[in-house]
Amino acid sequence: MNPVLAIYPGSFDPVTNGHMDLIERAAKLFKHLVVAVLRNTEKAPLFTLTERLEMLREVASAFPNVEVDSFDGLLTEYARRRQAKVLLRGIRAVSDYEYELQMAMINRKLEPELETVFMVPAVSFSFISSRLVREIARLGGPVEGLVPPSVEHRLRARLQTSGKQ
Ligand code: PNS
Repeated sequence: MNPVLAIYPGSFDPVTNGHMDLIERAAKLFKHLVVAVLRNTEKAPLFTLTERLEMLREVASAFPNVEVDSFDGLLTEYARRRQAKVLLRGIRAVSDYEYELQMAMINRKLEPELETVFMVPAVSFSFISSRLVREIARLGGPVEGLVPPSVEHRLRARLQTSGKQ
C-alpha cells in the first residue's frame, strides 16, 4: 500500500468551494491525491457522472498531483485496486462526525490497513454542502462564493433547461 496516495471519495453533486478547500489542503500533504466520484449512488444526482467528473477536472487542473477518477461498488475495493493507504474525508461540524465515524469504522472492518484521515475546511466553508447548493440554485438564489464559477454557470444552465428556475 502506498502511504503517499490518498483517495478523497464522494458524490460531488456538484463540487463546492468546501471540497476545493480540502483538495487544496490535501494536495499539499499527499504526493498523489485521487478525487474519486461514486458512480452509482442511491440518490438521483442533479449532474450526471460525466458532468461531475468534467467539473472536478476543470477545477482540479490547477493541482498537478490531483487526479479525478470514478468508482463503483465498495470504496475499500477501489482503494485496494489503487493501492491507497489513506481515505480522506472532510468534517465540517460535529453533526458530520457520527456518520463519518460509522463509515470509517465500517471501512476499517472491511480493510484494516486503510486509514481514514479527517480534515476540516476553513471556517468560511464550514456551512457549505452540495445539497444546500442544489437547493439554493433550484430556488433561484445566488450560489456565488459557494461553488467555483464554472460550477455556478453549469448550475444556472442546468436549472434553466429543466425549467426549475
Ligand atoms: O459525498 P458523500 O455522498 O457523503 O460520499 C459518500 C461515499 C461515496 C464516500 C460513500 O457513500 C461510499 O463510500 N460509497 C461506496 C460504497 C461503500 O463502500 N459503502 C460502504 C462504506 S460506507
